[in-house]
Amino acid sequence: MKANKTNPALSGSLLNFVKVSGKTLSERYSPFNDWVQARRDLGVWHYSRVLFSPALHQTCIANEFGLKPTEGINFASQDYLGLTYRQELRDAAHAVIDQYGVHSAGSPALCGRTEHLLTLENKLTRLVGHEDCIIYATGWMAGFGVITGLVRDTDTIMIDALSHNCLHEGAKHATSNVQKFTHNDMDQLADKLRNERVQYAERGIFIVVESLYSMDSDSPDLKTIVALAQRYEAIVILDVAHDFGAIGKQGLGLLEQLSPEERKSLVVIGSFSKTFAANGGFVLCSNEVRNYLRFHSASNIFSNAISPMQTAVVNQACDLVFSAEGQVLRGKLLTNIKSLRDAMTINGLLVSGEPSPIVPVFTQGKTEDEALARLTSKNMLLNGLHANLVEFPAVPRGKARFRFQVMATHEAEELKQAAEIMAASREAAMANLQTYLGKC
Ligand SMILES: Cc1ncc(COP(=O)(O)O)c(C=O)c1O
Repeated sequence: MKANKTNPALSGSLLNFVKVSGKTLSERYSPFNDWVQARRDLGVWHYSRVLFSPALHQTCIANEFGLKPTEGINFASQDYLGLTYRQELRDAAHAVIDQYGVHSAGSPALCGRTEHLLTLENKLTRLVGHEDCIIYATGWMAGFGVITGLVRDTDTIMIDALSHNCLHEGAKHATSNVQKFTHNDMDQLADKLRNERVQYAERGIFIVVESLYSMDSDSPDLKTIVALAQRYEAIVILDVAHDFGAIGKQGLGLLEQLSPEERKSLVVIGSFSKTFAANGGFVLCSNEVRNYLRFHSASNIFSNAISPMQTAVVNQACDLVFSAEGQVLRGKLLTNIKSLRDAMTINGLLVSGEPSPIVPVFTQGKTEDEALARLTSKNMLLNGLHANLVEFPAVPRGKARFRFQVMATHEAEELKQAAEIMAASREAAMANLQTYLGKC
């Protein structure tokens, strides 16, 4: 605790700097810069690292400061099936650049959609068995844009407390009637729905959830959510960013648990950035909802469409992800996930949630958790292991964790080594921490 109080580099969070005061830019923003500098000086600023080679299972990453790249095992990139550097995807990108150039040059509401985008919309619609599809420039824009596009201030949103930022931001901007429910607590959701429906017979009620939560690696009871939505005449918005393409026999993630009719009752949001090797987001919905959103979802209308190159990459990625080879890759991914979780446990580290491409590994530093996590992160980079640290406020105080994002292309030996390096980095950080405590 002492170290946290006396060493700014090992204490504080981004949240401390949301409130700013003063009239000049410097008065307002220099306290934040001083804090970042203190962390950089100690080598514990773990944000905005820079890639010096493709985001493969082994890659070269540097701290934002100093820029001395370290070769290492990579769990810090989001590419669950390991498609980033696949020849077919690069060929597709090159071919479409020659055909269309490099820019969409317009909003999807005007003239930004290429024929490849139409192909992609149809492909995704067919794959999931929904009615229609819209493509957004990013998954964040899809989440924010769907909620603000569909929900009005006279409506209520019930949102899982651990939902992604794009969903919370969308909810906040759409209506003042936002009710958070405790993560995955179906009883609480049922109580809230019952109360709301009894009080407001005609009100629009939206339930906002994810299929796989990326901080804890767990999933909701989707069947129950769909049943509750039917009972209380609510509308479900489901974000499938993390499991779509990466999990399940058909690659549809948690959606596989639902019947075709149940799927069609949902508004499904997704991202291409985890499994489909490109920026971009999508929404699967009824034809009526699609027609409405196309002209009422600001992040779709007032922003350029994804580029022809991104579209071509995702089209090609879909063909691969939903093929027999995609199924093999998902099998390898699952084997890797289980091996990494086992290796972490064998090395005395705490892992949470269910097997998924995200393996959250805790530092368990008790009162000095953030400090221990930051020092561990520094050591991991130096020792050739890349994984993103998530600390407060993204997760509760004292629950800092490393998010290992597994790829189908990781090798068995790398998974074993990763756990050993993480354990050794944490041990060394514990010793360092004592030194910092001792000096205070
Ligand atoms: C659940 C969820 N939704 C949306 C997004 C945003 O996706 P994108 O990177 O495509 O903007 C993320 C990204 O991490 C996510 O985890």
